[in-house]
Amino acid sequence: MSTALVTGASRGLGAVFADRLARDGMDLVLVARDRAGLERTAAAARRHGVSAEVLAADLSTPAGRAAAEDRLADPYRPVEMLVNNAGVENSDVFVEADLHDLQSQIDTNITAVMSLTHAALPGMIARGSGSVINVASFAGYLPAPGSTYASTKAWVLAFTDTMAASLPGTGVGMIALCPGRMRTGKHDAPAAPSPLWLDPAAVVDQCLRDLGRGRTLCTPGWLYRSVVGALEAPRRSMRAAARLAGRGRAKHGADAPPSTTRPAPVRTAA
Ligand SMILES: NC(=O)c1ccc[n+]([C@@H]2O[C@H](COP(=O)([O-])OP(=O)(O)OC[C@H]3O[C@@H](n4cnc5c(N)ncnc54)[C@H](OP(=O)(O)O)[C@@H]3O)[C@@H](O)[C@H]2O)c1
Repeated sequence: MSTALVTGASRGLGAVFADRLARDGMDLVLVARDRAGLERTAAAARRHGVSAEVLAADLSTPAGRAAAEDRLADPYRPVEMLVNNAGVENSDVFVEADLHDLQSQIDTNITAVMSLTHAALPGMIARGSGSVINVASFAGYLPAPGSTYASTKAWVLAFTDTMAASLPGTGVGMIALCPGRMRTGKHDAPAAPSPLWLDPAAVVDQCLRDLGRGRTLCTPGWLYRSVVGALEAPRRSMRAAARLAGRGRAKHGADAPPSTTRPAPVRTAA
């Protein structure tokens, strides 16, 4: 049996991830602040015959992140999948928002994603297998009025892009999940079906399917997928160009660390 660590598993999309991974036979480590919510998710997971640890931690704090990092880096209890799902959306108007709340959002949505991934990757790379799912948002593409939430999710998208480009050949996969509005209970969703409102279970299914296919970006729902597909077209060309440039650099030895003593190449006349 392999193990997945899911952040933000006390409710919402994280609980749906936990349920699906438990049904797939994965043991779980469940992280969030609300211990009672985590225990509910863990009890539901155990009904599928897997083990579920509860790790109550506030990922906006160094101590909370350290607890999750230690668990991820434990060589005796390897974690094969990290789901960076915990996220907060501070909807206050930027100039009126409490600076501490904005910083806490950055620490949860960005710092925790970075530090947990940093803790998980070395073991995954050493074992030659593993996967990381980073939950971003369609908001990361939207230049709509708002505060800092969208920019935290834009960071998650850019971070995953860079990491995914750095991991080929390691056996480790990374994907950014980029959903639009979901019926997780966080927002007042209309009762009527709408292509704008996604079913969290379908979002998780799509994400795991795309991860299995080696994709690095998952945008569930035809409406969001067509918009992101158009926005991503030029970036796909940039990624291909970056891959080619990277191969060229390696071929010409330019990946060697820069040396201050090495003389600059001198172009001589034929
Ligand atoms: N719902 C949407 O429409 C939507 C759309 C696009 C993207 N997303 C993203 O999807 C993810 C899940 O969203 P959701 O709708 O399921 O949200 P949710 O119902 O509000 O759940 C958020 C989860 O994150 C955890 N969390 C928040 N702050 C935390 C902290 N400081 N430390 C540890 N855990 C923390 C919460 O647990 P505790 O409160 O127990 O700590 C909870 O389990 C988020 O990253 C969100 O930005 C959501």
